[in-house]
Amino acid sequence: MGSEQQVTAAGNEVSASFLAAKKRSDAVQEKLDAQPDTFTMLTGDRPTGRLHLGHYFGSIKSRVELQNRGVHTNIVVADYQVITDRDTTDHITDNVLNMVLDYLAAGIDPKRTMIFTHSSVPAENQLMLPFLSLVTEAELHRNPTVKSEMEASGHALTGLLLTYPVHQACDILFCKANVVPIGKDNLPHVELTRTIARRFNERYARNNPVFPEPAAILSEAPEIPGLDGRKMSKSYGNSIMLGSTAEETAKLIKKSPTDSERRITFDPVARPQVSALLTTAGLVTGRDPAEIANEIGDSGAGALKQYVISSVNEFLAPHRERRAELAQDMDTVRDILEDGNKRANAIAEETLNQVRSAMGMAY
Ligand code: TRP
Repeated sequence: MGSEQQVTAAGNEVSASFLAAKKRSDAVQEKLDAQPDTFTMLTGDRPTGRLHLGHYFGSIKSRVELQNRGVHTNIVVADYQVITDRDTTDHITDNVLNMVLDYLAAGIDPKRTMIFTHSSVPAENQLMLPFLSLVTEAELHRNPTVKSEMEASGHALTGLLLTYPVHQACDILFCKANVVPIGKDNLPHVELTRTIARRFNERYARNNPVFPEPAAILSEAPEIPGLDGRKMSKSYGNSIMLGSTAEETAKLIKKSPTDSERRITFDPVARPQVSALLTTAGLVTGRDPAEIANEIGDSGAGALKQYVISSVNEFLAPHRERRAELAQDMDTVRDILEDGNKRANAIAEETLNQVRSAMGMAY
């Protein structure tokens, strides 16, 4: 009974702060249309593998739109987040470069968007020390995303996993981003970033605030489930990678599980697997999944899969073509990252100097 109440209380708390964040997100969206160049965006990805359709619809697509509307856009390839819950950096260079390839193929323009890696920007990482002093251990332990990530990893809670939301605040605040497009799971980190910015300004920079309090922009796209109806995740092998071949994609979709009912209906609760296929097809075609279900009707799961295969492959064909072309010149991809890192260092050093001054540590 007691624990049930706790669950409910925690649930309510989450949804209240979610609603507040959603309101801020909507308000910012309106302002963004009017004055895009007054906004600085930062967001990023963990380079643990290849980007998939969930990343594309949840985040990459809107980054490209923000960039093209004139927002100052920044993307961190969060290499230090890779080791929050794993013991190796195997394949990290490959993952980082392939991530940059997917960004470029998706329409990120490195002239307008700064792309950089954590490990290349020392001054950004140094913000971690003053920022850690602004949060309590209890606040760190309360973060629901950290908790679920720890459980999913089957790994002990490392100091870095516990504190990575603070590091994420460094990512956001070193370039003074005021908008952060994210999925729901990153919302607690943006909330913490707001707290850190507020506390830093209150404690050290009352008359001349150093940091903005950034707003999350919540993805409008429905969360895209993995092909088996579970969360789309590399470790479940249920994700459609942007850079896979058409054949690999077809094979993956063909072997995805469905159920024994022949007639196709869209019912995410009772039929998560069939519905995941329909949601995927709906996203890539811009159609209503229920309408696709009606159309396929008694033709069954085989016909549904064929439809998903052809619509996904058609949607990804231009991306894959651009990606393959860019991949022929990896030196240019490396140069793009090097240039982004150079720019990020200049910005981070400037911010760190302001932080030192505000704290009376400019010697
Ligand atoms: N944690 C984010 C993810 O899981 C990646 C990320 C790192 C990020 N730093 C960030 C997102 C700063 C937004 C802002 O994909």
